[in-house]
Amino acid sequence: MVLNAMDPHSYANTDQVQVTHMTLDLRLNFEAQTIAGTVTLDLDRRAPKLVLDTDQLIIQAVQDGAGNPLEYTLSPAKAYMGQALYVTLHDQTTQVTIQYTTSPSAGAIQWLSSEITQSHKPFVFTQSQATLARSWIPCMDSPSIKGTYRATIRVPAGLTAVMSAAHKDHDVERGVFTFQMDQPIPSYLIALAVGDLKFASLSDRTGVYAEPGVVDAAAAEFRDAEKMLKAAESLLGPYEWERWDILVLPASFPFGGMENPRITFATPTVIAGDRSLVSLLAHELAHSWSGNLVTNATWNDFWLNEGFTTYIENRIMEQLYGKDLAAMMGLLGQQDLQAAVKSLPAEDTKLKLDLKGRNADDGMSDVAYEKGANMLRLMEQAFGRDAFDIYLKGYFHRYKFKTLTTEDWLSDAKAQLQGNPNDIWERVENWVYQPGIPVDMVRLSSSRFKARTDDAKNWATSGTLPKTDEWVTQEWLHFLRSLPQQLAPEKLADLDRSFGLTHTGNAEIACTWFTLCIANNYTPSYDAVQTFLGTIGRRKFLMPLYEALLANPNTKELADAIYRKSRSNYHSISQASLDKLFSGPIQ
Ligand code: BES
Ligand code: ZN
Repeated sequence: MVLNAMDPHSYANTDQVQVTHMTLDLRLNFEAQTIAGTVTLDLDRRAPKLVLDTDQLIIQAVQDGAGNPLEYTLSPAKAYMGQALYVTLHDQTTQVTIQYTTSPSAGAIQWLSSEITQSHKPFVFTQSQATLARSWIPCMDSPSIKGTYRATIRVPAGLTAVMSAAHKDHDVERGVFTFQMDQPIPSYLIALAVGDLKFASLSDRTGVYAEPGVVDAAAAEFRDAEKMLKAAESLLGPYEWERWDILVLPASFPFGGMENPRITFATPTVIAGDRSLVSLLAHELAHSWSGNLVTNATWNDFWLNEGFTTYIENRIMEQLYGKDLAAMMGLLGQQDLQAAVKSLPAEDTKLKLDLKGRNADDGMSDVAYEKGANMLRLMEQAFGRDAFDIYLKGYFHRYKFKTLTTEDWLSDAKAQLQGNPNDIWERVENWVYQPGIPVDMVRLSSSRFKARTDDAKNWATSGTLPKTDEWVTQEWLHFLRSLPQQLAPEKLADLDRSFGLTHTGNAEIACTWFTLCIANNYTPSYDAVQTFLGTIGRRKFLMPLYEALLANPNTKELADAIYRKSRSNYHSISQASLDKLFSGPIQ
């Protein structure tokens, strides 16, 4: 079976045919947990066949634009790839319509029963990145192919549908919604969510969608959205997507955020009550340029999306909340990078990846985010911020609505940023193509973090409790990370009594605290750990907590019991990672 020569994660014959537009007409069936309907693909073709990506789709019919049947075959299913759909085109065929139904186990889709949603109404959402769009739309599922789309979505009466597109028309009573995305986007940015959604406006171009019980808290937490958007525009150039809305998903959402164009999808765990986790929104907003406008050509170039975005996220936070906070975030990122490099095989610590034959998801680690961001920080330092900012804006302007490989990026950067101060290009190549953390990583410093390191030492050795009234979330995280990894349960009880950490409403702090508790048999936190794992499906939190539970012989059984009970509430993306951790699905 022939694979795409450019993109190891797609079957699509992108060198012969391009899909320029898709028209979807889909009906959602919550009882059967299926989406059924048609997609019509507009083709720009130079060959008599079309190869698409599919995964667990039932194909009912394939026709050309005039309604004539077209011959088609499906290749056998392959792990991580799904099935290729081969369609033989007629001489004049420039449109293909596929009638299909998704599987209840479609990788992208999570169906939530009314028992576990806030509103007690059903909810469904898709998560297409990296290679899961093919599980709900037969398409060229490669980030190198961009097209526009329109959609008609039919849902049970009373529910609201949103998509990564402009909202055209809706009839809530009949349950019919129409959408239109006029800017070309890759398949991994096509997104749909349906539930009992309320909307709160934040400015004339920003707003928040959430279930009724959540929408007010979300609007309060996200009130800086317009300010963020202005800061991003001042750094990167005009926002090309007209609106920026934020959808708060149920807690099972497997990620912190997903940068679906026009509508960021976000975990409810971003709502800490004090806006202390809004850097996540800055991150997803930054993707409106790095990722959504200028896109990695393959998942081997994933750092182009996430490294740029993490760098920009930090710059936005600096502009809005100051250098101190930005330095603390940068330092936490460097710590994450150290941890990632320690735990990953050397191959996976290069920026340019080689994921051929592997699940694209496997190579996606903090390396792309933090090593990428730190390399850009090094370049900023070498060329000076003014010159680097001009380059940054120009980059997004020159490549908007296009895709790049790492090599395309490097030759463009060399052409635009002239000169070779401090041998920067040799260093950059080292960052891109060699494993590990190069020695020239920019050193960041934060007086507040220095104080927290001392606080941690003092408390561990002499029991002196720190004064924490003025601490921000990042300081808590640094303090907890700076503690000795082995502590007596009584010591942890002392911290817990003083600061109520077990019952913090801040999910980032909770996760770091619980990891420490589990490693040290601090049992009074275990009920809260169970509740956390039973309600939250964000993979970034699930993985370290289950790993800690499994690593401690005293909690291994507890890990099995919690996972057995909670697995069905997690998205397939989190399930897949956890199944590996537990070595096979637990029934
Ligand atoms: N695009 C990513 C999420 C993603 C990555 C989905 C790879 C599928 C495959 C998103 O922008 C992201 O990075 N989310 C982070 C939040 C962020 C603040 C670092 C997350 O979910 O933790
Ligand atoms: Zn991201």
